[in-house]
Amino acid sequence: MPPRRCSAFAPGRVNLIGEHTDYNQGLALPFAIVQGVTVHASELAPGPHGTAGVEAFAADLQEVDRFPLEQPPPADGWRAFARGAVAELAAAGMPLVGARLEISGDVPRGAGLSSSAALSIALCLALAELGSHAPSPPGELPLDRLDLARICSRVEHAWAGAHTGLLDQLASLFGAPETALCIDFLTLEIESVPVRLDGWRFAVADSGERHANAASGYNERRRECARACELLGVESLREARAEQLEQLPEPEQRRAAHVLSENERVLEAVAALRAGEAEMLGELMNASHESLRDLYQVSTPAVEATVERLLRAGASGARLVGGGFGGSVLALLAPDVPTPAGALEVSPGPGAHLIA
Ligand code: GLA
Repeated sequence: MPPRRCSAFAPGRVNLIGEHTDYNQGLALPFAIVQGVTVHASELAPGPHGTAGVEAFAADLQEVDRFPLEQPPPADGWRAFARGAVAELAAAGMPLVGARLEISGDVPRGAGLSSSAALSIALCLALAELGSHAPSPPGELPLDRLDLARICSRVEHAWAGAHTGLLDQLASLFGAPETALCIDFLTLEIESVPVRLDGWRFAVADSGERHANAASGYNERRRECARACELLGVESLREARAEQLEQLPEPEQRRAAHVLSENERVLEAVAALRAGEAEMLGELMNASHESLRDLYQVSTPAVEATVERLLRAGASGARLVGGGFGGSVLALLAPDVPTPAGALEVSPGPGAHLIA
């Protein structure tokens, strides 16, 4: 019998608004982008000692990783995701087989467009499909989307050291063309919001500063929010009320003020999208950015320079996307405004899927 093969694709994402709200049980409004990561997998026969292994090839980097299927040791960079995907799928009880994996992608790496979630989702989908007793029916996945989001989030936490929320995974897994997702991280309800803005477009520009969630202040912000909750005696900032925030010391007060106001802006952005009020969306994006810069303090001089460049080029709104501390800036462009030099137009595309 020829070795089994399968391929999986997972997109990156942009977040229209609702930044640093996911791990605070708040609201966000991302969409999956057309760019993403593709993994081609084929079954690999066991080695000379009968041990099943994985051979992963990162085509864009021309790098290879080889590790045992059972209990892969930790590693850095993209290898952490490959090994973590195998280990976390196994820990979740998914049957796996030795595999050769070829990874390639067109989502910029480390630019705040969720290249790491796209990588872990595409890897997990390909590995789970290869290991399952029968191929998934067309249009279906070998495991539940929410379970997969949680498995991939464990890969980020335990293998890449970034204590991220579920924003990136849910956006990549549930995305659809012409659709943004209003995600409530308290209930994990996802509401589809049509993105039809009559010629208005979104574009992302790279600040040129790489960001790595684990190394950046991301985990520190998360701890500050947890501390704010402790001081207020609430389970999450979703339960906190604006009047209570005065009791908090700095920097917890600012951090919480960002989260509460950002949740409000998500609801306003959903209303603006539904009403086709693009200008209002641009204003909300600008307000979100100011809050991320001044209250949450996750911007950098390179990000600020990029925001200013985009606004000068005629953008109606510009804000950093993702964790911050570098990465990309998202701009909203009116129909008559040309795409600024070096910016990449992005639009909502399909969510993660197996490729027939
Ligand atoms: C990163 C994380 C997400 C989310 C954003 C900030 O992208 O991976 O979970 O917290 O930052 O909104």
